[in-house]
Amino acid sequence: MSFIEVIGGRPLSGEIKVQGSKNAALPLLAAAVLHRGESRIKNCPGIRDIGNMEVLLGQFGCRTRREERTLIIDASDVADGIVTGAEVKRTRASVLFMGALSGRGRHAAIAYPGGCSIGERKIDFHIDALRKMRVNVEEKDGTLCFDAKELCGSDIVLKFPSVGATENIILAAVLARGTTRIQNAATEPEIGILCEFLNGAGARISCRGNSITIEGVKELRDTEYVLPGDRIVAGTYLTAAAGTGGKVRVAGVRKEELNSLIAVLREAGCEIGADAGSVTLAAKLPLRAVSLATAPYPGFPTDMQSLMMALMCGASGESRITETIFENRFHTAGELARMGAEIRVEGNTASITGGGGLTGAEVTAGDLRDGAALVTAGLFAKGRTTVRDPEDYIRRGYEDITGDLRKLGACVREY
Ligand code: EPZ
Repeated sequence: MSFIEVIGGRPLSGEIKVQGSKNAALPLLAAAVLHRGESRIKNCPGIRDIGNMEVLLGQFGCRTRREERTLIIDASDVADGIVTGAEVKRTRASVLFMGALSGRGRHAAIAYPGGCSIGERKIDFHIDALRKMRVNVEEKDGTLCFDAKELCGSDIVLKFPSVGATENIILAAVLARGTTRIQNAATEPEIGILCEFLNGAGARISCRGNSITIEGVKELRDTEYVLPGDRIVAGTYLTAAAGTGGKVRVAGVRKEELNSLIAVLREAGCEIGADAGSVTLAAKLPLRAVSLATAPYPGFPTDMQSLMMALMCGASGESRITETIFENRFHTAGELARMGAEIRVEGNTASITGGGGLTGAEVTAGDLRDGAALVTAGLFAKGRTTVRDPEDYIRRGYEDITGDLRKLGACVREY
């Protein structure tokens, strides 16, 4: 368990370079399993989810080591693995080992990754797709056993553009016999990054909008890839600056990956500029209330929903936020209410009556992005806020949120 104490009321200013992308790194760790050799992932963030995935990689014979900010994975000797342990439950991305180990024609077992506080996190799309690719998948008392010796390409139409299911199908298809075509695939930037990484290692993947074609190849080769900055971490610091009436430059991020957030922050009254690799923001308080609905990329990202809820508490007027991706992602509303926020939740829509401002309080993180949102709420609030993080959720995705925010002038510490 950890605690983050924030003293609010100080406008953020200055420049910050964001860490490498968590949600781009995790599928690359699974993709490295496909190659009987070394893969080097540069600008890899030092976060708990990566550490958990390294533990799981070790369970079926992969070796990992770090050279400064480069993670090196050697998958020369991948055994038929049993991927279990607490790390599976804690790291949703562990489900990607199904596709990767299937891609190696292995049979293995992986504990069901299970749900978390934001939703049931089903994996039916993953299982249906792998079965279409002739992977024999059996669910036995909380464990998924799969045998991929008959693996072959197939045409797959996803009912929903699931990020993880799209990634798992790509991982299974790269070395499969024949061709795999995915329709209604996710188009998040992390999908393009996975394809770039794999094509750099000799895969044959082509993407056209939400259609992806993968021609199976015999083997891959050593490769290295430089991860881009984390778009959600960048969004976190932009909203933190916006809510304090600050002026910041966030570097190491691709502006086009933040277009939907930038549009909302501009509507709220922020002045936003961008040059190659960075986004600048200047804000004057109070912000204007804005309403939005989360959606698959390029729509407004669900991972920024809690952060926007915290930001709108200080805006003048009524905002409405509709969550369309996960069924239970409004935990932040209850914690913000403890800080004096006026938020009414009806079904998958939260209505925020802004303008009353926030007052520091003791609050508890319920998941990764909720925890980050409560830290930013502490920046916006009068007085002291203590964010209790019982499962160290925040460190799962943020290398050093307090260190980064201190660089921007925040009065914040972790203990
Ligand atoms: C990825 O999760 C991200 N995680 C999430 O970020 C992100 O919120 C999500 O994509 C949506 O953008 C990683 O990349 C590690 P989905 P994923 O499959 O792949 C339902 C963060 O904070 N669904 O697109 O699990 C599912 O229940 C995390 O960094 C099924 O019903 O998301 C959800 O309601 C949180 N059946 C919706 O689809 C399935 O087989 C979207 O899930 C798969 C998904």
